[in-house]
Amino acid sequence: MQLPPPLETIPPEIASVEDYEALARERLPASVWAYLNGGSADELAMRANREALLRIKVLPRLLRPMQGAHTRLTLLGTELAHPVIIAPTAFHRMFHPEGELATALGAAATESPMVVSTSATHTLEDIAATSRTPLWFQLYIQPDREFTIALAQRAEAAGYKALVLTADAPLNGLRNREQRAGFSLPPGIEAVNMKGVRAFPPADRVFGSDLLDRAPVWEDIAWLRSHTSLPIILKGVLHPEDAELAIQAGASGIIVSNHGGRTLDIVPAALHALPAIVKKVAGRVPVLMDGGIRRGSDAFIAIAMGADAVLCGRPVVHGLAAAGAVGVAHVLKLLRTELEMTMALAGCRTLAEIRNASLTFAP
Ligand SMILES: Cc1cc2nc3c(=O)[nH]c(=O)nc-3n(C[C@H](O)[C@H](O)[C@H](O)COP(=O)(O)O)c2cc1C
Repeated sequence: MQLPPPLETIPPEIASVEDYEALARERLPASVWAYLNGGSADELAMRANREALLRIKVLPRLLRPMQGAHTRLTLLGTELAHPVIIAPTAFHRMFHPEGELATALGAAATESPMVVSTSATHTLEDIAATSRTPLWFQLYIQPDREFTIALAQRAEAAGYKALVLTADAPLNGLRNREQRAGFSLPPGIEAVNMKGVRAFPPADRVFGSDLLDRAPVWEDIAWLRSHTSLPIILKGVLHPEDAELAIQAGASGIIVSNHGGRTLDIVPAALHALPAIVKKVAGRVPVLMDGGIRRGSDAFIAIAMGADAVLCGRPVVHGLAAAGAVGVAHVLKLLRTELEMTMALAGCRTLAEIRNASLTFAP
């Protein structure tokens, strides 16, 4: 697959994460852009993620001491420099010739943990060999359970620190934008860690398909735990009762997410689902959130509403498509710097202090 060469330097007019969107769009075929930036059906859930964040305002506190301010946190026993994590996104070689290896380098430059997708286009071992930051491996439990265990054990052997079990996509969402653009995987782009495995039921047949019949259920979490010593983080939780079930099943963390609006379209914004889940979890395991994070101030809001950390999906891929590792690093650097600025201007010295920030809601 031939892409125009990525930028070698970042143009000075690129000042925010969203500025990368236009740069990425120029470099990608229209159908690939539809895959990357689209959501499911009418894209209500995707838009809701942004709209929810935009409606929340912060009442800053003045004249507070800021000596020793920092964004550090400890998550699942690992100390992190800041709370912005690279969300798992598929097929990075479709966006840049160096694919996930470039993303991992960008992550390293900004001390950002990275979640590697099941549908990565480099082997999980090669990504681990390139990485200098904590890696988590995103897993879909496959109809072939033996294959799933082998994949989880490969991740463990390669040094991944956690498994992110994505539970909100037993089948692909209704991706109308992709369909209209005629998207299909370009030649040479392949989920190399999944060779020989069928990922999703066909879009035109849902019930009765053997893949859906063997989709994972709650018992599979205990089963997976019995085959790995890695902590399991459940991704895609929107209902507080599912957060409870996840903890009972032994999950070590929860990601509140609507999959960036790419699965079921009639769900709430991840941010709207967050408070009830935080209340239910009551500090027993970390609660992370993704969907619509485009500014460091968005991360601030999510943390103020109870998230321990956030993940960022599309913007990282925009940076990758525009300028490879440099673009990924710049996107993350912008988010980090904006988070620090927001904290300084709102009078919060630490992430814990963000939790006590006063929020108001714009009508
Ligand atoms: C192009 C693309 C591919 C994705 N692939 C995966 C994936 O392989 N596994 C997964 O768990 N989530 C996947 N997601 C969802 C992201 O992990 C994340 O939940 C979402 O992108 C967050 O929303 P944001 O893009 O607004 O930051 C994907 C999202 C996008 C945009």
